[in-house]
Amino acid sequence: MKRPQAQVAVLQAADAQEDRRIDDVASEADLQPQAATRAAFELEADGLVAVSEETVANYELTEEGDRYVRESLPEQDLYAAAMDAGAADGPVQMGQVIGVSGLEGGAVDIALSNYARKGYGEIDSGEITADPGVSPGQDPEMLALEAVADDRVDDADNDALDQLERRGLVEVHEETIRSVVLTDDGVTALMEGVEVAETVDQLTPELLTSGEWDEVEFTEYNVEADAEDTPHGKEHILRQTANRVKDTLVGMGFQEMEGPHVDAQFWINDCLFMPQDHPARTHWDQFALEQPDEIGDLPEELVDRVRSAHKEGVGPDGEGYHSPWEEDVARGLDLRGHTTSLSMRYLSGQEVGELEPPERYFSVEKVYRNDTLDPTHLLEFFQIEGWVMAEDLSVRDLMGTFTEFYEQFGITDLEFKPHYNPYTEPSFELFGTHPETGDIVEVGNSGIFRDEVLEPLGVDCDVMAWGLSLERLLMLIYGFEDIRDVHGTLCDLELLRETEVMH
Ligand code: PHE
Repeated sequence: MKRPQAQVAVLQAADAQEDRRIDDVASEADLQPQAATRAAFELEADGLVAVSEETVANYELTEEGDRYVRESLPEQDLYAAAMDAGAADGPVQMGQVIGVSGLEGGAVDIALSNYARKGYGEIDSGEITADPGVSPGQDPEMLALEAVADDRVDDADNDALDQLERRGLVEVHEETIRSVVLTDDGVTALMEGVEVAETVDQLTPELLTSGEWDEVEFTEYNVEADAEDTPHGKEHILRQTANRVKDTLVGMGFQEMEGPHVDAQFWINDCLFMPQDHPARTHWDQFALEQPDEIGDLPEELVDRVRSAHKEGVGPDGEGYHSPWEEDVARGLDLRGHTTSLSMRYLSGQEVGELEPPERYFSVEKVYRNDTLDPTHLLEFFQIEGWVMAEDLSVRDLMGTFTEFYEQFGITDLEFKPHYNPYTEPSFELFGTHPETGDIVEVGNSGIFRDEVLEPLGVDCDVMAWGLSLERLLMLIYGFEDIRDVHGTLCDLELLRETEVMH
């Protein structure tokens, strides 16, 4: 039998009794691993070898993990210091223990959270105790870290390995290992004798002019071989999804709103009937601008109507807040905490003039909040804002709009919960189910604007409105669990590269 050179080499290097790794076969046969793999698949297609695959996890220490394995884990340092300070006998001041532990900066938090988690002792109101029964020398995470460092991962405890990965002390890379074994037909072929067939993989002008093309044997195409992977730039999935959202809303008859990221509190809060002493209006929640700290002009008549709504309410039975309302506060500049500021600008006629119902507007824009960073919260995120102005709207219209919108993204299990906003009545929050964890995730907030909002704006029909989170929508579509996987310096490049584009 005649076979291309790489196939002959693989056949000869393969064994009939045991699987051999293609990489080993390749180095023995002096072939590139890809060429050996291709040859193995070609031989498999003809029944001469069988190819098997296995995925193995390779563990590698991160820089931080490497440092700890050479020194010690921060919680071990803390335990040693606590024991020295007598924390086995009773609570000791934390400051004192940290001082002698030599821990500094971020290492202190790392030490404290792991100390408590591992039951080394207790930490309560600034005091620390140590459990004398613990032996940190046998810390399973340290043992696992050492096993990774010494290349004997099989000795490591699996839970400890998972924990190390979560702590960012080891990284796991999955690798596919392929092996070949000769089949009976392969053995027979070898016994009958296999010769190298010279094959040509490119048709050249020389072959054509010389007429040699008629005599040579051409290499066959293997259309199933893995193509080389070239990482290239592509649109970020957040941007892709933002564009899909825009297309979807345009398809549902909405027009897009635009407006400033930094805006007067007037548009962000006051038009929304948020009292000036509302807790959400403090620096705890909002980012205020230092320079400039005020906007020059606000529409005077609207300011008067908004002031009156705050002080006396609207309509014959109106009740305002009866609390102070200062135009200076309304002129203060903030990074917008929601894009409902844009809805106010548009509904007031300030942007595109007076609007006649029915009207539908949306935006997919960034908002800024002084939140604490965690897997579901960022200091800035994209909000999908929208509103519909029409006669006689009800909660059913709002629910129907959401059902239709989220269906376009394959989300059909929305849940609704009554809620409170100072500017809408009724209001409700929306929830979806995380496809991986099964957790219920809040995805947005909505409602029907109150008269106290609409009347000063000069709107005399109903307006239903919402603010949805683009990042949470992305979580439900793609199933990742930490918002920081797609945003910021810690983002998961592999996820961003490999996530399929959806249309
Ligand atoms: N502004 C609200 C938020 O940021 C969303 C919302 C908009 C709710 C309009 C009701 C009406 O959560």
